[in-house]
Amino acid sequence: MKLDIAVLSGDGIGPEVTAQAIKALEAVAHNFDHTFIFKEGLVGAIAIDKTGAPLPDKTLELCANTDAVLFGAIGDPKYDNNPSAPVRPEQGLLKLRKELGLYANIRPVKAYNTLIDKSPLKREIIEGTDISIYRELTGGIYFGKKELSEDGTIASDLCEYSRGEIERITHLAFKAAQKRRKKLTLVDKANVLESSRLWRKVVSEISTAYEDVTLDFLFVDNAAMQMILNPSQFDVILTENMFGDIISDEASVIGGSIGLLASASIGDNCCMFEPIHGSYPQATGKGIANPIAAILSAAMLLEHFDLVGEANAIRDAVEKALELNITTPDLNSINPLTTEKVGDFIYDYILNPEDSNINFENIHVGQSTII
Ligand code: IPM
Ligand code: MN
Repeated sequence: MKLDIAVLSGDGIGPEVTAQAIKALEAVAHNFDHTFIFKEGLVGAIAIDKTGAPLPDKTLELCANTDAVLFGAIGDPKYDNNPSAPVRPEQGLLKLRKELGLYANIRPVKAYNTLIDKSPLKREIIEGTDISIYRELTGGIYFGKKELSEDGTIASDLCEYSRGEIERITHLAFKAAQKRRKKLTLVDKANVLESSRLWRKVVSEISTAYEDVTLDFLFVDNAAMQMILNPSQFDVILTENMFGDIISDEASVIGGSIGLLASASIGDNCCMFEPIHGSYPQATGKGIANPIAAILSAAMLLEHFDLVGEANAIRDAVEKALELNITTPDLNSINPLTTEKVGDFIYDYILNPEDSNINFENIHVGQSTII
């Protein structure tokens, strides 16, 4: 298969982790005889510095005319503490999602056996957790009307949803549940918010077309608690934009590190794949950022194009890296490896799993030729 992939590595650790994801894709291309063509575009703070805009038209055009987008991270502390900054890097990502129509953000959360003891949560609580979060991505409070009174003392952000916006992601979430453990939980705040009541109504109606899936509802405050108390109860979680943003960061502690969580953003015509972690500016250039979320995002890209064996080749390599503790300091305080070395191991393992097997012992003590 030939795929054109736009690479928007962005700010902070974005370029370092994205480079490892590209390496993994190159190994897959080599082994499975595919052609992946990578074209870079500017986004985020670096795009503001170079062009004045967080999402230059050229980047948007590149993304609109490509098969998939591989995204790194955006954000820079120089904007975080300046509420009156006229442009912000995040606007680039939000505009990209909106313009490309990426309405469904899929965030898988899994407790890897080898990492269970790295999570701050107890083994018996997180064991067996395997959740797929379907976060609506182009509506709600993120995109509603924003107002600030003239004297700057009153501000508001409108949370608005239309039936159509709810319907399209709901179908995707039900279809995903049918292929998994057949349970869908709608997370909302229907006891308070009108928009949540519309979600409940629409999702309940649609559920009649998916009789094999059990639908239940959870208020977001309770869902936040359940995520820590009993996360293995969840299969597919469906939720609106901001609730999904918050509970997916919360869910990331189950895996032991936010550096493991990948995501896919899907629309009718475009798709984008990105780690859910941010730009982690304190780590930029230090080689300590975990590349696994970016690498697993590349696996989600492959799966999106039905390249399932290829996606699994990446996942197997990641699991092997985790099993052997070939990991960055977030997961490995004793003998951490750099972002690049972890990427190298995964690249080598995809290319040649048998050879890497032979060197397991050496890899462990950091003496393998592979790393
Ligand atoms: C995410 C991020 C973004 C969001 C930010 C960077 C705008 O936190 O992808 O989860 O809030 O959606
Ligand atoms: Mn977020």
